[in-house]
Amino acid sequence: MIGLVQVNMAPSHPVKIVLGTHQIGDASAWPGIIHFTTKEQVLALTSAFKARGHTDLDTARNYPGSEALLGATGAPSEFSIHTKIFGGGPEATASKWHSRDAIAASIAASLEDLGVDSVETMFLHVPDRETSLEETLKAMDEAHAKGQFKKLGVSNYTAKEVSDMLEICEREGFEKPSVYQGHYNAVFRSGEEELFPLLRKHGIAFWAFSPAAGGFFSDQKKASARWDEKTLVGQLYNNFYGSPAIETSASAVRASASAHGINPHEAALRWTVHHSILDGTFGDAVLFGMSKLEQLEQTLDAVEAGPLPDDLATLISGIYATFDGPGPAYHL
Ligand SMILES: NC(=O)c1ccc[n+]([C@@H]2O[C@H](COP(=O)([O-])OP(=O)(O)OC[C@H]3O[C@@H](n4cnc5c(N)ncnc54)[C@H](OP(=O)(O)O)[C@@H]3O)[C@@H](O)[C@H]2O)c1
Repeated sequence: MIGLVQVNMAPSHPVKIVLGTHQIGDASAWPGIIHFTTKEQVLALTSAFKARGHTDLDTARNYPGSEALLGATGAPSEFSIHTKIFGGGPEATASKWHSRDAIAASIAASLEDLGVDSVETMFLHVPDRETSLEETLKAMDEAHAKGQFKKLGVSNYTAKEVSDMLEICEREGFEKPSVYQGHYNAVFRSGEEELFPLLRKHGIAFWAFSPAAGGFFSDQKKASARWDEKTLVGQLYNNFYGSPAIETSASAVRASASAHGINPHEAALRWTVHHSILDGTFGDAVLFGMSKLEQLEQTLDAVEAGPLPDDLATLISGIYATFDGPGPAYHL
């Protein structure tokens, strides 16, 4: 891959900071991944986030127990809630998770667990390529018309699928997607080539998940359950980031960041927030995660520390240019 090494020194408007909550819920369902399991722990996390001036939480029907714990702590009365339709993964492979009935059931279960009648954003989380986009979008339009969510979001789809969705919504008068949630950081930039131009053209915001590459740049990565090949999430993330080329780039970033006295994990995050294609002018956001309360404070401190030193930002911007072919796919 060539190109895409430019360093955008600062977005014209800061990106929105959203707290990801896939590490909240039932630890027996995702051992080593879910760390915040009690109302007290979740309240400590969400209160600390709010005290730093942020009000958006991202959850999903797929995150075991996350919506229920957020509901139990009263989070929906204090935060904008963004959640996602159930789908993908071993439990869902036997069924069409975007059939009309499955969508209605997922939304009803989310609203019940959260204890609300409506959420800010409802994302189609994982593409269901067995169900037609027409059926999927009609079901979402019906739920939108009932007032069950304000904004329709899509996640992990290809640019072509988003384009097809827009055409169907236009033709049928359905609610159109206005937010795209996708994998984006210094390694996952392939969306810049085909997805971002489409989103910008249609006024669709981009929300970046894993903005710090899920902890890949951290010195502590080897000790993290998140990267343990024995877990499903560990296998997924090792598949995403496991190539020798990416590991070589990450080593160089770790060395340079440390020479600047900057935690390499935070350097990766600061690149995404301050030097990437993301721009708050278009409603763009980053969704970060943490396994400990102190990581939340460290993450917000890092965001507030602002742009990186030029040489470090340029080094991180150069990672994507080291790929021979297209970089890792932004979609599933
Ligand atoms: N739409 C989708 O399909 C999708 C997919 C993935 C995620 N998401 C959303 O995006 C959110 C964030 O994703 P993410 O967790 O991958 O984001 P991330 O912010 O890139 O990675 C979070 C990980 O970084 C590590 N970390 C955090 N602070 C650190 C620090 N100060 N020093 C060193 N390491 C640190 C922790 O790893 P350790 O566990 O090793 O401590 C933590 O688990 C999720 O909660 C979810 O809401 C959506």
